[in-house]
Amino acid sequence: MSNTPVDYALDNTLGIIRVDNPPVNALSQPVREGIIRALEQARTDHSELLLLLCAGRTFIAGADITEFGKPPQAPSLPDVIAALESFPKPVAVALHGTALGGGLELAMACHYRAALPDARLGLPEVKLGLLPGAGGTQRLPRLVGPELALEMITGGAPIRAPQALAAGLLDHMLEGELEPAAVQWAQNLLAQAVPVRPTGERPVPPPAEADFLARHRQQTARKFRGQPAPGYIAELVELALSASLEDGLARERECFLACKASPQSAALRHVFFAERATSKLPDIPADTPLRAVRSAAVIGAGTMGGGIAMCFASAGIPVTLVETRQDYLDNGLEKIRQNYANSVKRGRFTAEAVAGWLATIRGTLDYGDIADVDLVIEAVFENMAVKQEVFRKLDASCKPGCILATNTSYLDVNAIAGATGRPADVIGAHFFSPANVMKLLEVVRAEKTADDVVQTFMKLARTIGKIPVAVGVCHGFVGNRMLQAYGRQAQLLLLEGATPTQVDQAMESWGMAMGPLAVGDLAGLDIGYRSRRDQGIESRSVLESALADTLVEMERLGQKSGAGYYRYDPATRARQADPDVEQLLREIAAQWQVPQREIKDEEIVDRLILALVNEGAAILQEGIAARPSDVDIVYINGYGFPSWRGGPMFHADSLGLDAVVTRLEELRELTGDDCWEPAPLLRKLAAEGNGLESLNGRG
Ligand code: 3HC
Ligand code: NAI
Repeated sequence: MSNTPVDYALDNTLGIIRVDNPPVNALSQPVREGIIRALEQARTDHSELLLLLCAGRTFIAGADITEFGKPPQAPSLPDVIAALESFPKPVAVALHGTALGGGLELAMACHYRAALPDARLGLPEVKLGLLPGAGGTQRLPRLVGPELALEMITGGAPIRAPQALAAGLLDHMLEGELEPAAVQWAQNLLAQAVPVRPTGERPVPPPAEADFLARHRQQTARKFRGQPAPGYIAELVELALSASLEDGLARERECFLACKASPQSAALRHVFFAERATSKLPDIPADTPLRAVRSAAVIGAGTMGGGIAMCFASAGIPVTLVETRQDYLDNGLEKIRQNYANSVKRGRFTAEAVAGWLATIRGTLDYGDIADVDLVIEAVFENMAVKQEVFRKLDASCKPGCILATNTSYLDVNAIAGATGRPADVIGAHFFSPANVMKLLEVVRAEKTADDVVQTFMKLARTIGKIPVAVGVCHGFVGNRMLQAYGRQAQLLLLEGATPTQVDQAMESWGMAMGPLAVGDLAGLDIGYRSRRDQGIESRSVLESALADTLVEMERLGQKSGAGYYRYDPATRARQADPDVEQLLREIAAQWQVPQREIKDEEIVDRLILALVNEGAAILQEGIAARPSDVDIVYINGYGFPSWRGGPMFHADSLGLDAVVTRLEELRELTGDDCWEPAPLLRKLAAEGNGLESLNGRG
């Protein structure tokens, strides 16, 4: 490997520019400068055609995101790209891995493009609250037409090389090893004496349907509420149809800079790094030897067990489901088949892939059949005695070194581990429902869990497509513990005079995927009801669950019974406000002597969100989560918190911790509730003039 990130060499009349900037060849300043230098050299040497390619696992995966918060450093990416497009000799580019963002923009300015068949090409900037800022909105429509361009830029998902070839984004598919194949292709171009072919000089083909752009604009406004980038993208692609490349690029630059400076983009960039940081455990070396996980078992084929089994099967890890009765097992397996069949119908997976996965899922009633598995995940009823009994059986049946995990939502993992003679092998694996879809996985480290078990689980989580967050043991771990504080405020606000519709709409307008009461109705109010009874809490004995208990006892369980906090239209499932619930609220408030008043949306948002912030800070202080950004990732991926607000802890920083502490004190004053006592960590950081970000361990 050379010590500069860009190398230039001549192979007869072929000039080869090689970018080598691990891990993902991001377009950092030295790379941009290196490409300009190579072009300067090539301008005067005897090269007749240039070939640009990358070393390592991927083509350029984009601009260097770490540079975005810093002052710009010349040469700018648009300047590098302009230099490539206007280069007087033909420039060919060979792609492999992921050609993303600025990487694809650079490739589109080259005159000829080829890729290995498994390459993926995309403009994912929108996921960072940005838009392509180096010509992507102007060049992609010129190459593939406005429809596919808008789909790729607004959706942010990459397309595969064969589709790119068919769409005109690629000219040629390479076969075999990248470099020899690319050189061979470039030699052929040389032999054909191909001319320079600037993309910017091509016209944009008009959309097939005249009203396409207007429809797209409307849909975007609805779908991306609160985010500026998608609106700009629609404008820019439309502009590409009529404006010169120069004018289009100038407007693109303005919009890009506006997005880059937006709080939404700062939040999404935080989320990008936060998502990756969760795997870095401060106290366990990254090179800790891992345990091999080649086979798994799941105990309990219910809602969670079935979904968890699918995660393993889909990742190529054979899995055995264990149940107590044949009919339960048959039902569980049937549900898995149905879920997979639905995914095939929706085009998510092919029928062949699903058939292969299903063949690796076995069922049994006999713990003897799982004696040799490397990992077990228990997903039986949420009851300590039942779980301890299962763990005793696992202890007796499983081979030494087998990792034993529990999917408990709330129970004490130390007590579950204590039922075995091997607590070092026991860990919590809190999946979210539906387990085959939801990305979040809380990896619960119990007191005695061995480091290699934790590290193995963190890696395994990525293998099965999850974002793992390591958490410590407490009631509800990170996510559900914060949810309780949040849900409690929703209940109190109802008794103080808000309606379910008002609470949900306030939170949804703020950006939550769904309001808390609608979520309750969706999940089923009986779940919380049963859990309170299991904990020995008498029905209606607690203010903040009095309404929920009453609704369940009226057989209003939520969507599944047609009514809960709302009524549900049997045909459309649309939620409708229910005057009976509002009457009930008044009665319960009177009974508990809670004075009712008019409540503003702003108070609803403040109370729900600051309850999350204060609980999150307590969780950090107790060391239940390692860093504030881990808390953000939990809440964004498990609870519908808007990613463009960066998560509750990032949001607290953007409000300013001083302002957060002041507002918490005001709420304590207003409600007389001690829950608003600011967490000591918040007070400390605010007094020091620091944000929670200072605890993330990033620059
Ligand atoms: N800039 C800086 N660092 C980056 C980066 C980027 N564009 N892309 C990835 N990295 C870093 C990651 O933070 C990670 O660092 P770490 O090891 O210290 O945690 C390391 O590279 C490896 O990344 P992943 O763990 O994500 O590796 P994967 O192999 O799983 O995925 C990838 C590779 C698909 C390229 C993925 O990293 C990715 O999606 N990257 C971002 C792509 C992107 O958004 N590009 C657009 C950037 S914006 C832009 O180009 C603006 C332009 O229009 C002007
Ligand atoms: P469920 O009731 O749908 O499934 C439990 C299954 O376990 C049943 O099929 C039952 O027959 C089986 N089972 C009971 N005892 C068993 C034993 N001794 N051996 C083998 N199988 C046994 O419950 P669900 O919802 O799947 O929950 C399971 C666990 O996952 C609970 O701990 C729950 O708290 C947790 N969880 C549930 C979530 C949800 O949204 N449903 C989300 C995250 C965690």
